[in-house]
Amino acid sequence: MIKIRVNLFKQVTGCLLFVCMMIACGSSESQLSMEYRENGEMVIRIFNPTRFLLLPIEEKADEAQVCLNNQDAYPVPMHIRLAVNHVDYYVPFPLPESTEPLVITVHPVDKEAICWDTMALSNTFDDSNREKFRPLYHFSPAYGWMNDPNGLVYLDGEYHLFYQYNPYGSMWGNMHWGHAVSRDLVRWEHLPVAIAPDELGTVFSGNCIIDKENTAGFGKNAMIAYYTSAGERQTQSIAYSTDLGRTFTKYDKNPVVTVDIPDFRDPNVFYHAPTGKWIMVIAAGQEVQLFSSSDLLHWEYESSFGEGYGNHGGVWECPDLLELPVDGDPGRKKWVLLLNINPGGIFGGSATQYFTGNFDGKTFTCESSPETVKWMNWGKDHYATITWHNAPEGRAIAIAWMSNWQYANQVPTLQFRSANSVPREISLYTKETESYLLHHPVKELEELRKESVAVSSFTVNKSYTIDQLLADNTGAYELDISFKNQSAGIIGLNLFNSRGESVDMYYDLTAHRFIMDRTKSGLTGFSPDFPAVTYAPVEKQSAYRLRLWMDHCSIECFDGEGKFVMTNLVFPDEPYNRLNFYSKGGSFEVESIHIHLLDIH
Ligand code: FRU
Repeated sequence: MIKIRVNLFKQVTGCLLFVCMMIACGSSESQLSMEYRENGEMVIRIFNPTRFLLLPIEEKADEAQVCLNNQDAYPVPMHIRLAVNHVDYYVPFPLPESTEPLVITVHPVDKEAICWDTMALSNTFDDSNREKFRPLYHFSPAYGWMNDPNGLVYLDGEYHLFYQYNPYGSMWGNMHWGHAVSRDLVRWEHLPVAIAPDELGTVFSGNCIIDKENTAGFGKNAMIAYYTSAGERQTQSIAYSTDLGRTFTKYDKNPVVTVDIPDFRDPNVFYHAPTGKWIMVIAAGQEVQLFSSSDLLHWEYESSFGEGYGNHGGVWECPDLLELPVDGDPGRKKWVLLLNINPGGIFGGSATQYFTGNFDGKTFTCESSPETVKWMNWGKDHYATITWHNAPEGRAIAIAWMSNWQYANQVPTLQFRSANSVPREISLYTKETESYLLHHPVKELEELRKESVAVSSFTVNKSYTIDQLLADNTGAYELDISFKNQSAGIIGLNLFNSRGESVDMYYDLTAHRFIMDRTKSGLTGFSPDFPAVTYAPVEKQSAYRLRLWMDHCSIECFDGEGKFVMTNLVFPDEPYNRLNFYSKGGSFEVESIHIHLLDIH
């Protein structure tokens, strides 16, 4: 362990403030000094740098521009909420090895802010979990802010998950691509940041492909990332990796696609075999634009889709165009355009809509009438959905960011903010003349079952309560319930805990809806948009199956046939471990309940 010898002495003479901190590190002493300049800037000098400068963060503080003036790289300022009155948490600011003193400038600054006394040099950063609302099997960053999943791609036995990441605080900003890998989609290993901001801008959303034939010339099987450089304008850039995604090099001719539209982002590239071309779909205002390329580097405009189609309550973001099998027949396929919209979602804020139809290599044609809106998820917390490229056995696996721009920055966690949905396999089914998405949680999730309890059948005539779902309920569990309706108009289930916090769910068979009410689910007051009742359309059937995936701060409710999914965040003080079934207007039978405690083992 490193012995820290802090020697703080402040001399506030006129405008000069000087603080010196020394840290004994092997034979050389690391030192930090600060100089306040008249122009309102603080200059931090670091001699014999340690691995990190630990920065104290106060989320209510204004952002300061913190810039490492490193001679080897273009200086890109990071916007960091340095603590003024108190410290909410620390973030590590990585320092390069250097024999010369490192110079970090910060502005604007408050000379009296406590950050100057509390920042520290260190060779370690403790990211062990401190959050009771951290999910177990839904991916979350070890620390810092996360939004959209990016660059989902499979290579050599690994599922790669990149994501919109702020390593310098748990609120949105400083977009990097964070990175994690998994062999089974449920156990994730955190890897270092993959792509960092540069002179073209911060690194917004995009995707990755595997260049199996070395078409771009970066190498056979290169992993190529397409992302939006968000600077003065939004342009599309490339970075590539020839070491299984461990390090990325930016293409020296970036950006590769530029147009004059303010919201022009989130490229998604795929190979279209019938035309032998690569296609890039990009969100452009309230439509998508399609480009094609033969070499993965030069892109030509082909067409636009969206005007007059679907929901236009907000900006279109994060498109993904893919072909999916229909009615379980791998020989029969249709094209689906996944399209995220914010605001304008059915329950307010962000949501994913989709279009079904045909793509001929140039143009996407929607099979629905222009006013048709197809929602992918019937909860409030399912956004920026995209799918894995190059997944084995042709699997189409989608994942979403499990939050909503209405309150994502306010949810009651500090060390990190946001998690992803569980990965789900998607396909299409036909209803009347159109196709709709089917969703099933990936089968790998079942490997997490640690202990299982089965409850045999009973009839619900008014009310039936199970007082304890699991003897030791950690808050991460799956509930698999099969119902047979007899005469009920309402088939209800209310999950609750000893604090009286509850999530009420019910099939309203008159309204043809499955409804979830999280208004009394626990902590809800952090945003007026959080308390909500969400609903999904259901057909009247004699039997239903529900699969509920609970994970510390979320409920993902899958219809047994896969016809709807509802993803909602909840913040209960303790796990919901009791379940009340209730009926109205008649009775129903609970045929079976399987409760599976889930654990990463
Ligand atoms: C969607 C989004 C994208 C953008 C990214 C920025 O949530 O707004 O359009 O690339 O987030 O973080």
